[in-house]
Amino acid sequence: MGTATALDYNAEIAERTAPLYQRVSRVIPEIEWPFHAPYVDAINDLKKGRNAILLAHNYMTPEIFHCVSDVVGDSLALAREAQKTDADVIVLAGVHFMAETAKLLNPEKTVLIPDLEAGCSLAESITGADVRLLREKYPGVPVVSYVNTSAEVKAETDVCCTSGNAVEIVERLATDRVIFLPDEYLARYVQSQTDKVEIIAWHGHCEVHERFTAAEIQDYRANFENLVVIAHPECPPDVLDTADFVGSTAGMIAYVETERPGRVLMVTECSMSDNVAVELPEVEFIRPCNFCPHMKRITLPKILQSLETMGPPVEIDPAIAERARRSVERMLEMS
Ligand code: 13P
Ligand code: SF4
Repeated sequence: MGTATALDYNAEIAERTAPLYQRVSRVIPEIEWPFHAPYVDAINDLKKGRNAILLAHNYMTPEIFHCVSDVVGDSLALAREAQKTDADVIVLAGVHFMAETAKLLNPEKTVLIPDLEAGCSLAESITGADVRLLREKYPGVPVVSYVNTSAEVKAETDVCCTSGNAVEIVERLATDRVIFLPDEYLARYVQSQTDKVEIIAWHGHCEVHERFTAAEIQDYRANFENLVVIAHPECPPDVLDTADFVGSTAGMIAYVETERPGRVLMVTECSMSDNVAVELPEVEFIRPCNFCPHMKRITLPKILQSLETMGPPVEIDPAIAERARRSVERMLEMS
């Protein structure tokens, strides 16, 4: 289980956690709650003791997203919240690059990630040396890096972006050409949204979103009448062409909250539909289930262990951190 503590369920925990269970009862079967509840109870208690804040990405499972987090959101929102918090400790329930971003913005604070192995296929697709070679090949062309990159890559970057502000950042640079990395499909999506800038792309892909196909989406449409399809821009272009709306994870959630479609398919990581379904019982979610194996490394027992041991901490080489911080701060200033 990855933790030394095995926790029992009892009547007091059941009573204390009952309101939280009420919240998630549509997506977590009652039989599972005794396994989650002792961890939920212990984490919420220990967070106070440590003056810790738990930031959770939209892809966390519902027992994390709805029951132990203080702030939830897309990578842009988590970066903004990390910049604002006055907690002593930040626990990042998400993947490693998100925790690194939080640490860049809070060098004095303790930032913990419950599993150091929670990586990202995009972040792993490119190194700082690759960016230096791109700069040699395209002298003078600014580098925009998706936040799904390592601190080492951010240090070689002019400005970061997320899927929520990529078009805005690229246009605001007011230049003819931009090197946009590492996500090829996000780069192509950005190019489809702007004719002001020529995008030079890298060839990284998200291992979760690249698996969706246009044929699969058409099958869902054929089988479910009046289906609204909304997709994350990390999907291949032909998948995005089939979608009614394209946006970041926060953008997708806002779309469903505002439009309240009767039936929706969110073309993205699986847990997000569960998290939104908790709030919107009247919307029917059709769920193609692609899990991000990295996001799914984060579990309640590991979060508890993190708070108990105050580890593992996220550390960044100070020489890299200073330059990487500038590219993240520039993004936050520009969007
Ligand atoms: P968002 O910034 O849209 O939350 O995306 C992060 C991510 O990793 C999507 O796969
Ligand atoms: Fe990376 Fe894709 Fe997982 Fe997001 S869903 S963390 S982009 S591998």
